[in-house]
Amino acid sequence: MTALSHVKLGTYYVVHMPEPDDFAFWRERARQLVQCDVPPDRVAWVEPGGNGSLFSHGDKRLPVPEDDKQIIRASKRFLSIAKNVCHHSDPERFSLLYAMLWRLQSNPRLMEDKADSQVRRLEDMDKSVRRDAHKMHAFVRFRMVEDDEGNEHYVAWFEPDHHIVRREAGFFVRRFANMHWSILTPRGCIHWDGETLRESGPAQKSDAPQGDPAEDLWRKYYASIFNPARLKIGAMLKEMPRKYWKNMPEAALIPELVAGAQKRESEMVDAGASLFGSEFEDRPETLAAIDKAIHGCRKCPIGNLDNQAVMGEGPDNAALMIVGEQPGDQEDQTGKPFVGPAGQVLDAALAQAGIERRETYVTNAVKHFKYVQRGKRRLHQSPTAKEIDVCRWWHEAERAIVKPKVVLALGASAARAMLGKTVSISKVRGEPLALDDGSELWVTAHPSYLLRLDGDAKAEQERLFAADLAAVKDRLAQLAQ
Ligand code: URA
Repeated sequence: MTALSHVKLGTYYVVHMPEPDDFAFWRERARQLVQCDVPPDRVAWVEPGGNGSLFSHGDKRLPVPEDDKQIIRASKRFLSIAKNVCHHSDPERFSLLYAMLWRLQSNPRLMEDKADSQVRRLEDMDKSVRRDAHKMHAFVRFRMVEDDEGNEHYVAWFEPDHHIVRREAGFFVRRFANMHWSILTPRGCIHWDGETLRESGPAQKSDAPQGDPAEDLWRKYYASIFNPARLKIGAMLKEMPRKYWKNMPEAALIPELVAGAQKRESEMVDAGASLFGSEFEDRPETLAAIDKAIHGCRKCPIGNLDNQAVMGEGPDNAALMIVGEQPGDQEDQTGKPFVGPAGQVLDAALAQAGIERRETYVTNAVKHFKYVQRGKRRLHQSPTAKEIDVCRWWHEAERAIVKPKVVLALGASAARAMLGKTVSISKVRGEPLALDDGSELWVTAHPSYLLRLDGDAKAEQERLFAADLAAVKDRLAQLAQ
């Protein structure tokens, strides 16, 4: 890591970046330079390992701003793009960002000018960094090795286009929390031992293992989830560029699978294919253990999407448990249940019924967000009956710990998770059903359903929803006596 130094040559300033992706450092220095009125053509931004020797003499300090309270204008859009652009591999990224920050002082709405070449360049860089992160999430493939003590360690090789490795570490920690793993890249490596994340310098491909028995398993799994009925070669190449194929064991199967797609499609229609993973192990005994374990769950294909598991939330002795279908986009991003639009409908209805959400355990039948990508948007897809049935294991583990007196299922998926069969909401709402563990199940509509309605139909469904919650509130009061 290069030492920090800022060298002034006459009126020329050089900023040595300590790390190639240090947005906070860039922002602090850039603010200081704007406050001192230093135009972009008087500043050179040098990357770690970059050639700063031309400037390596003279005054070692940046100018001291006369007025460090001066307001620096930087729109939200600029800041969000700048955070990503700092990870780009283009050596000019820091100067370009500074040039834009400089221009924003006299034209705060500059980022809205789509015809401006600097704006366009920054937007392209932003997109390229986000795309690289997406590829890393999707195409990192671990290979199992044993360490000196015979413990399993998973190692992956990945070649990012940009400086994204440190930034994406959190995704892999959340997703593979229980595994010990390393991701090796030519831009630096990250290592996780179940508790601590470490970084180390760049690696070479030959440092990573090249294949192991686990790959055969993975290949078999991929062959089983490969859906020939959905084969779109153009889209596949766009999403899974050939560049990444060499690190992906399943890529060896692609030509064969594509060739056999038609045959498999008809076999699939005849026989059905097994998409699902192996048996569960022992049931975790605390909510914290469930939370940890669901992040590694790949028992159904939803867990293999670019998402994170969302754990239930609330007291571990709540009298009421509310069960939704699955996390939505916002729940996936925040890791919390019912925080998006459906959550707002639920919160308002709970408040109206006099039920305290913070005294309630709120969870979902399916722990991961199922979606299809449409451009930048991720569109909700309902889980299949099989996916709900597989995830039921986690939900039952939560219920065995919380032991609620009353469970309120929101919508048909949640009701299925509880009953093991599909029921019609209109037939079962309004009356409690007995569950095996002695608790009572009440079923009502899902709040997203209310959001999709309008006019009289909406008013009627809102009335029924409110009545169901009021009935649950009354029942809780009776049970508390
Ligand atoms: N819909 C659900 O079913 N659950 C959530 O957590 C959010 C939306």
